Amino acid sequence: MNEIFDATAYFDNIYARPVMLETRSLTQIFRHGKLQRTVLNQIDLQVHKREFICVIGPSGCGKSTLSRIVAGLDSFHSGEVLVDGQPIQGTSAERGMVFQGYTLFPWKTVKQNVMFGPLMKGLSQTRAEEMAREWINIIGLEKYENQYPHELSGGMKQRVAIARALVNEPKLLLMDEPFGALDPHTRQKMQKHLMDLWQNIDLTILFVTHDMDEAILLADRIVVLKSNPGEIKEIIEVNLPRPRYSDLIHSTEFKQLRAHIDVLVHAQEDSLDPALQNLPKIPRMRHIDTSE
Ligand SMILES: Nc1ncnc2c1ncn2[C@@H]1O[C@H](COP(=O)(O)OP(=O)(O)OP(=O)(O)O)[C@@H](O)[C@H]1O
Ligand SMILES: [Mg+2]
Repeated sequence: MNEIFDATAYFDNIYARPVMLETRSLTQIFRHGKLQRTVLNQIDLQVHKREFICVIGPSGCGKSTLSRIVAGLDSFHSGEVLVDGQPIQGTSAERGMVFQGYTLFPWKTVKQNVMFGPLMKGLSQTRAEEMAREWINIIGLEKYENQYPHELSGGMKQRVAIARALVNEPKLLLMDEPFGALDPHTRQKMQKHLMDLWQNIDLTILFVTHDMDEAILLADRIVVLKSNPGEIKEIIEVNLPRPRYSDLIHSTEFKQLRAHIDVLVHAQEDSLDPALQNLPKIPRMRHIDTSE
């Protein structure tokens, strides 16, 4: 790589900023009948203002559990979750959410979806519409503002979901596999769009993914979780200069980092979600005709 990138200075600058999100000994326990399962165990994490954090780990390790707790959607067993030094209480517009399963209001148009937050805050119809328009322009969907979600592609819907979260000027944007359902090309475009947004506004991002390339392209630091119980295995500083483009994945530095994360994520005997450990043998169905 030709660019001179002073990683030490870059990360010193990040760590000098205030802590935007902090979890202290965060523990989550789920009960399955009489059994108890510790899904997150004593998670200590500090995310600094304007930092881009990716959380990665094997399926079932607790990534969505962590993002739902920080979003305020779920209560937790013990520990603390602080945003800007204050314990969180339920959901809040200051913590924007873009989750794969957290969809738009299907009965509202693009504009009405984006206006929802400002209206809830008590802003006037005119002001809410003005703000929605601004964000709809940023995500490039001016021509679609009066369309309904079912009339949009998956990538467009996720852009609206991002606008709907960002119109509230959240301190923190929580994203749980937001591009997981998109085709590779759209996904790449969305990653670039998100990077551009993040670099131009005051926003801290916690982004859950199981895609290592996506994590390396996007993150300042990558939090690798292990499972059973979910704990932080390693926090990796991504020492690659920004802006990062998708062809970076062919560089030696990228490949080395990817190999390192691959070992962390996959080389765990205990990494498999219990639900996947003992998959049943599929019995042969008598009425299935495979003769053709
Ligand atoms: N509400 C719940 N009640 C009981 N168990 C739960 C609940 N939510 C999650 N779990 C369990 O907690 C574990 C972690 O789930 P979680 O959805 O956080 O995993 P994940 O890391 O997001 O996985 P994936 O990569 O597949 O999305 C799983 O074993 C799941 O079965
Ligand atoms: Mg998940």
